[in-house]
Amino acid sequence: MAAYKFIDHSYDVVVVGAGGSGLRAALGCAEAGLKTACVTKVFPTRSHTVAAQGGISASLGNMGQDDWRWHMYDTVKGSDWLGDQDAIEYLTRNAPAAVYELEHWGVPFSRTEEGKIYQRAFGGMTKNYGEAPIQRTCAAADRTGHAMLHTMYGQSLRKNVEFFVEYFALDLIMDGGVCRGVTAWKLDDGTLHRFQAQKVILATGGYGRAYFSATSAHTCTGDGNAMVLRAGLPLQDMEFVQFHPTGIYGAGCLITEGARGEGGYLTNSEGERFMERYAPTVKDLAPRDMVSRAMTIEIREGRGVGPNKDHIFLHLDHLDPAVLAERLPGISETAKIFAGVDVTKAPIPVLPTVHYNMGGIPTNYHGEVLTLKDGNPDTPVPGLMAVGEAACVSVHGANRLGSNSLIDLVVFGRAVGLRCAETLKIGATQPEMKDSFTDSHLARLDRFRNANGASATAELRLDMQRAMQEDAAVFRTGETLQSGVERIDNVIARRGDIKVSDRGMVWNTDLMETLEFDNLVIQAAVTVGGALNRPESRGAHAREDYPDRNDADWMKHTLAWFDDATGKVRFDYRPVHSYTMSDEIDYIPPKARVY
Ligand code: FUM
Repeated sequence: MAAYKFIDHSYDVVVVGAGGSGLRAALGCAEAGLKTACVTKVFPTRSHTVAAQGGISASLGNMGQDDWRWHMYDTVKGSDWLGDQDAIEYLTRNAPAAVYELEHWGVPFSRTEEGKIYQRAFGGMTKNYGEAPIQRTCAAADRTGHAMLHTMYGQSLRKNVEFFVEYFALDLIMDGGVCRGVTAWKLDDGTLHRFQAQKVILATGGYGRAYFSATSAHTCTGDGNAMVLRAGLPLQDMEFVQFHPTGIYGAGCLITEGARGEGGYLTNSEGERFMERYAPTVKDLAPRDMVSRAMTIEIREGRGVGPNKDHIFLHLDHLDPAVLAERLPGISETAKIFAGVDVTKAPIPVLPTVHYNMGGIPTNYHGEVLTLKDGNPDTPVPGLMAVGEAACVSVHGANRLGSNSLIDLVVFGRAVGLRCAETLKIGATQPEMKDSFTDSHLARLDRFRNANGASATAELRLDMQRAMQEDAAVFRTGETLQSGVERIDNVIARRGDIKVSDRGMVWNTDLMETLEFDNLVIQAAVTVGGALNRPESRGAHAREDYPDRNDADWMKHTLAWFDDATGKVRFDYRPVHSYTMSDEIDYIPPKARVY
C-alpha cells in the first residue's frame, strides 16, 4: 500500500481508550516506570465514563454494616450464575481499596454528616445474602463518572502517560498470534500511525450504538471488540445486552438508578407501584433485567402510561426538593431539558433503553485476553489485554448490577497495571515491524475511503439499529432472533455497496462513521446470532420460547468468531469458573433468582 505511509512509535504499553478503565490502566503502567501511551478517539474527559451517574459499588459499610462477601453473593446472583466466581471475588474484595484510592486522588465524593463517603441503595445490592436492600453505592451526587474521569486524567498526566488525542484506532498488529501493537488514524491531520508495544490494552468500551435507542454516547461503537474479531479472535457472551429501566421516553437519556436508590418509584397507568408484585422484597431496587422485563410486561398488558400507553412513570415528586437538589441535580436538569418535566412536581416518562454490554473480549482477572487453542479456552493471547466494558472478565455474567461497572473499571484497570509491571521489562527491545502485519489495515481503510456504491452509511446503520432494537430486545423468541440474523446478514452483505462521499483524510467524518459502522455491524452479527444460539433464559437474555434457565446445558460462556470474508458467525464455549479465588469464601451454587 505505497499510497499510505505510517509514522512509527514505540512504547512498552499502549492503552487504547481513555475512559475510566483506560486511564486507570495507563496510570498504573506509567507509575511502574513503563513507557505508556494512551491512544484515544475523543479527548479523555469526553470518554463515555463521564456520563456514569449513580455511583461505584464497594462494601465500605459507611451507612451500616457491610461485607465484601455480601457484595460477592449479590454479584453472582445478579449475574444469574454466568459470572466467573474467582473474578467476582477479586472484584468485590478489592473494591473498597479502589474507592479509597480514588478518594485520595481527589474524587469529590458526596459526604455523610460524619464526613464519610456517602453511599446510596442500588438494584440487587443487599445485606446478609439477599435479606434487604443495602446502601453500598458510593456517589458524587449523580455525576460520579464525571468526577472519576477528571480526577484520573489529572493523575495520568502527573504520572507522565503520553496521550494521543483524536487518534482513531484501526486494527491490531498481529504477528502469528502475538499482538505487537495497533494502527491508528490521526483525525485532525489525516496521518497514519503504527504504535508498537510489548502490550496493547484495549479499553474501548461498549457498542451500545448497534441499537437505535441507547444511553451510550455516539462514540460507543466497540472499536476494540471489532479489532479483536478481525484479528480472528473470539468475543464472549455477546448475547447479553443490558437494558437500563429508566431511559427518558423518546430521548433515551439516562435517568440514574440512584433516583430509585433515593426513594423514587415506578408506576403504571393505574397508578400502581407494580414492582411490588414482581420483586416483593426489594421492589423498585430489583436488578435491571427484572425491572426492564416488568416494565415491558406492564406496557404489553395495556398498563403503560401516555396517550399510546407505551411507557412508564418514574416518580421523584414525593421527595424533598432539597434532597433532589443535593443528590440528583444532574438528572433533574436532564428531565427538564429532555422530557420537559420538573421532577419536584411531575413524574418522568421512562422506558427500558440499551445501556451496557455484559459480553466482550474474554479475559482472566489480570486482564489478559483469552482464546480457545488446542482445546484450552483459557489460553492467553500474547501481547494483548482488555479492560472495562470492552472486556468480559466475566464478573457481570448474564446481567450486571448497577454501580458494578465503575468499580470494574478501576479494580481491573489497576490489575492490568500490576500485571504489566510484573511481566514486562522496561524498554525491552521489540521485534521488527513488517508491512505484511499492517497491509490488511490499509486495504480496509482504502476500500472504504474509495467506496462508491449506492448505499449511504447512515442508511445501512439505521437498518442495523432498527433490526437490533426490534429483534434482539428485552424479550426475544427464536422467530424474532431468526429475523434479526437475516436482517443483519442483509446489512453485512450490503457493505460491498456502501458509498463514502468524502475522499479526504483530514477530519473525514464520513469515513470515520463508516469504519465505526463496520465495527458495529460485525458485533451486531455475533450478538443476535449468539442470542439465537442460546435456547434458555438467563439474566438479560429472556427467551419467551425458552423461559427457564438451563444450567445443565447452558451454564457456559459463548465464544463467537466472525469471518469477515464469508460474513458467517461461528460458536464454541468456555466453562464458567465454578471456583473462587481464595478459601475465604466458598463457591456459591446456582439457585432460583428471587428478590
Ligand atoms: O443508573 C446509573 O446511574 C447507572 C449506573 C451503572 O450503569 O452502573
